[in-house]
Amino acid sequence: MDKLISFAPMEGITNHIYRKAHAAHFQGIDAYYSPFIAPNSSHKLTTRELVDILPENNPGIRLIPQVLTRSPADFLWCAEKLRSLGYDEINLNLGCPSGTVVSKGKGAGQLSDPEALEAFLKEIFKNCPLAISAKTRIGLESRAELPRLLAVFRKFPFQELIVHPRTRVMQYKGTPDEEAFSLVLEGSPFPVSWNGDVFCEKDALEVAERFPETHAVMIGRGFITDPGLSCVLKGLPRPEKAVYRSFAQEVFEGYMREWNDKKAVVFHMKEFWSYMIGIFPDAGKYAKRIRKAASPEEYLSSVSELFEERDIVPREEWAFRRL
Ligand SMILES: Cc1cc2nc3c(=O)[nH]c(=O)nc-3n(C[C@H](O)[C@H](O)[C@H](O)COP(=O)(O)O)c2cc1C
Repeated sequence: MDKLISFAPMEGITNHIYRKAHAAHFQGIDAYYSPFIAPNSSHKLTTRELVDILPENNPGIRLIPQVLTRSPADFLWCAEKLRSLGYDEINLNLGCPSGTVVSKGKGAGQLSDPEALEAFLKEIFKNCPLAISAKTRIGLESRAELPRLLAVFRKFPFQELIVHPRTRVMQYKGTPDEEAFSLVLEGSPFPVSWNGDVFCEKDALEVAERFPETHAVMIGRGFITDPGLSCVLKGLPRPEKAVYRSFAQEVFEGYMREWNDKKAVVFHMKEFWSYMIGIFPDAGKYAKRIRKAASPEEYLSSVSELFEERDIVPREEWAFRRL
């Protein structure tokens, strides 16, 4: 696969602990995107936001921090902060579909008012010390909104526009709108990347074949289900089960080191496993044990059992399952 491969931002999952462990075990990611930072007028990052993007917590990987805000001043403050930490690119979140975000006119909410969006973009592009990319959808309610949005986007020199070809109303359901994606690609003045529903090598190859001009393929759920997929996409052998095991252990140990609340660690690892269980066929009984674990010890023994008694069966096309 000759496309650049990026790891989508997944709030609550792909933080620095996850990214560092992923990069140490699996090759193939050209860029990781941080879950969004939400700067406000206090112009201070929360400890959690800062720890997540500190370069020493992201060694040896290309990280592109993502920001969610509709305020040019807060965006520019954050961009300056990122520049001082050594970053050269900032990603703007124009796609978050969550009700609380959209109702404040942020994320996908910014797509509802193209004029306000244009004014915002004008301000940030005029003064930003970093290259700006964005991750967006094809509209809030309907694809009919796309031409007007494209007319706005195309006035600005985006480093890259990553498109999840669904509307906000579709959230992550329904079929990605390939025609709408074609419209974004056609005559685009900036690189355009695909994001959505790539769960295996075949899916990625189909995107590359159908849209040869695509700059990069960004993958979220496909990677948190099968973190070794990045190797396969770069033509490397699929890692052994032991590598997956060591990866899961490193993520767990990372949380145990950084978090005081051990119950919270176990809770968090259940979320991690609600995706990764998908690479073990017929693992219902093991999934249930992980879900029921009430302590780190119970968690570790349920995961040991899974790795000892089941094999990883990566499927060309698997039913997408969660705990
Ligand atoms: C739990 C979860 C958290 C997410 N967090 C973010 C986020 O912080 N920023 C963002 O732009 N997208 C976020 N997304 C959207 C993903 O980056 C991605 O666009 C979406 O999962 C579709 O891609 P996929 O089909 O490859 O998973 C999130 C999605 C999920 C399911």
